[in-house]
Order: sequence, then structure tokens, then C-alpha cells
Amino acid sequence: MEHNYSLQPFNTFGIDVKAKHFASFSNITELQTALNEGPKEALLILGGGSNMLFTKDFDGLVLRNEIKGTSVVKETDSQVFVKAGAGEVWHTFVQHCIAQNWCGLENLSLIPGSVGASPMQNIGAYGVEIKDVFHELSAFHIESGAIHTFNKTQCQFGYRESVFKRALKNQYIITDVTFALAKNPDLKTSYGAIQQELDAKGIQNPSIRDISEAVIAIRQSKLPDPAVLGNAGSFFKNPVIDSSSFKVILANFPNVSHYVLNDNEVKLAAGWLIENAGLKGYRQGTCGVHEKQALVLVNYGGSKGQQILDLSTHIIQTIQAQFGVTLEREVNIIPSHESIL
Ligand code: FAD
Ligand code: EPU
Repeated sequence: MEHNYSLQPFNTFGIDVKAKHFASFSNITELQTALNEGPKEALLILGGGSNMLFTKDFDGLVLRNEIKGTSVVKETDSQVFVKAGAGEVWHTFVQHCIAQNWCGLENLSLIPGSVGASPMQNIGAYGVEIKDVFHELSAFHIESGAIHTFNKTQCQFGYRESVFKRALKNQYIITDVTFALAKNPDLKTSYGAIQQELDAKGIQNPSIRDISEAVIAIRQSKLPDPAVLGNAGSFFKNPVIDSSSFKVILANFPNVSHYVLNDNEVKLAAGWLIENAGLKGYRQGTCGVHEKQALVLVNYGGSKGQQILDLSTHIIQTIQAQFGVTLEREVNIIPSHESIL
């Protein structure tokens, strides 16, 4: 166990904070030992630190999940069930599946972070969410030390949501995740610029790898690489509003970028709202709004977490005043920040 340990290499915003206590675990026994020996104060489970904003030193125990391993646990004529340790790097796992010609995760290529964090917010991109290929997960119950299995229904997945962010918050440590992948490709090319990217390369019958490469190219064209510019991806969720509120917004802003979810709900592109409030590329000291993607906040170097949190509050207030829409932060604020502002 380390003490007063720098977390700067362990969060993609690159915020320079310290953990009072820090340990890694690569199996359940090591996890149990760390919990038994560690202080009984605040606990934080860390994967790749790509969806967190530290606003101050963490006055407790940070446990980094390094449970590795990938195995096929079941196979049918059409599907393969692949289990991965929670500490596997997400993109490496996706590439492994693509190399075996297993279909389902290719649209989720290049998302930073760990396998274990992927169900936390039901990660999604380019028309796919992990709930679409999720089978089950195992999780360590912190209070009892028991391992429980959760199926898809029990995880209560939603848009950037799961039961682990709500009713079971801070109660479980995910130790492995099993995905049901297809042996016969069923490719999703309709979202965003995927088809355009394939057309530009003259690809008519894409392979699983072609989809992955198209997604990677699109992502690299607009999302900043955390190794170069600190960030945590989309800082806010795309707000979902009811149809009558949407009609009012549409009357005032006919070009608003949106997606009709059903008869009652519409999802607005938060990036459009931020850009059209004049905040794309806006800079506040050492942090700002990314120039190519307004939903991403960036650390230009040396920024404190509190400064980025303050910037996000300014954005929430501006969007509220201009469009009457409340943005919700998607990134986890550590320590947790209960109020929306
Ligand atoms: P961390 O940031 O380490 O943790 C996130 C939360 O999960 C914390 O609350 C943590 O305590 C908890 N947690 C982590 N591991 C466990 C575990 N094993 N058990 C219990 N709790 C755990 N996300 C998307 O959905 N789609 C995208 O397209 C996308 N693009 C991104 C692009 C960039 C450039 C970046 C930097 C981020 C992006 N993200 C995206 C966000 C991020 O990659 C995902 O949320 C990812 O799943 C976070 O994984 P992590 O291991 O880094 O989690
Ligand atoms: N837009 C703008 N200006 C901007 C950015 C976006 O006008 O600066 C508008 C455009 O109309 C664009 C639309 O917003 O067509 C959607 O933009 P984009 O395709 O870049 O996706 P997003 O809605 O901004 C979401 C996810 C991303 C995911 C992409 C691709 C959320 C909160 N974000 O972003 O996830 O990679 O779609 O599927 O849902 C993340 O969660 O960290 C993340 C990066």
C-alpha cells in the first residue's frame, strides 16, 4: 500500500492530486487483503481514470483494478460468450475480439478505459452500447465480500446509466464482464459518418475490422488524445427532453441538432447547444472547451480539477439561460458532487 500517492498518471485529465492511500489488485484475494488492511474511510475504485475529474486530493483509499484475463466460456452455432477481467484495457480487448472475427464491439473501438468500467455507464458510441452485447458480469459486494452475478436486466442499463451508478452506487466492485458476440457479422454502419468513411475508402463489403478502422478514423479526427491534451471525453450527457419542450426550442432554433427517440422524447446534441452558445474553443485560464468537439472539456496543462468543474458550471448556466435546457455532467466528479451546480 502506497501513501500520499500521485494520481496524475492515473487520470486522463492529468489532474495533479494525491491519494491518501493507494493499492492495486489483480485478483479477489488481493482485493480482499487491501480492503482488510486498508483504512475504513472513503473508497474509490479506479480503472483507467478516463471518466473522472478529481477536484482535490482523495482523502481515502484508491484501489486500482488490474484483474486480467480473457477466455471463451461458452459457444453456440451463432454466438461466442467471452469473459474478460475488469482490469483489461477496453480497446485491447476489442481488438482481440476483432482478430478472432467476433462481431459486436467494433463500433466501440478506441474508447479509453477498462473492461470493468464499461457497464458502469453502459458505454456507447457510433450506434452501439455495451448493453447490446452484454451477457453478465461478476461483482464483489464490498460489505459482505460475496461475489454476485448480474444479468442484463439486473444491470438496469440506460443511456450512460446502470444500477451501479444509482441504487447500488459504491456497493460493488466489478471483477469480470461476459459479452455475447456474433460469429456471423451483423455490421452497424448507419450511424454518423461510418458509411461516408467506408465510401471514401471505396469499401463496399466491409469487414468487422473495416468498421473498427472507420470508427477509429472518425474519433481521431475530432476527439483529443488524452496523452496529448488532458480530457475525459464528453463532459456532459446529451439532454433528453419531452416533445412539447422540444417544440418550443425548435421554434426558436430551427437548426438545433437532435434525434427523436420516441413519440414523447427527443435527445438534443449538447455539443450543438454549447457551440451555438458561442462556447466552442472558449478558454478559461488553463482549461477550455475543445475546438473540434464542444462536448469535450480540456486541460491545456496544469489545470486544477476545481477550475474545470467551475468551467462546467459556467457552461451549464449559459445553456440554461440561452436554451432553457439543463445539462447533466457525464464525467464522475471526485469526491462526488451532489448538486447539479
Ligand atoms: P474510470 O474513469 O477509472 O472510472 C469511472 C467510474 O467507474 C468511477 O466511478 C469508478 O469508481 C467506477 N469504476 C471503474 N472501474 C470499476 C469497477 N471495476 N467496479 C466498480 N466501479 C468501477 N465513453 C463512452 O461511453 N463513449 C465514448 O465514445 C467515449 N469516448 C471517450 C473518449 C475519450 C478521449 C475519453 C478520455 C473518454 C471517453 N469516454 C467515452 C469515457 C470513458 O472512456 C468511459 O466512461 C470508460 O468506460 C471509463 O473507463 P475507466 O476504466 O477509465 O473508468
Ligand atoms: N455537434 C455540434 N458541435 C460540436 C459537437 C457536436 O454541433 O462541437 C453536433 C453535430 O450536429 C453533430 C452532433 O452534435 O452531428 C453529434 O456529435 P457527435 O457525433 O460528435 O457525437 P456527440 O453526441 O457529441 C456522442 C457521445 C460520444 C460518442 C459519440 C459517437 C454522449 C454524451 N457522447 O457524442 O461519447 O463517442 O456520440 O457516438 O453521448 C463520451 O461519452 O465520452 C463520448 C465521447
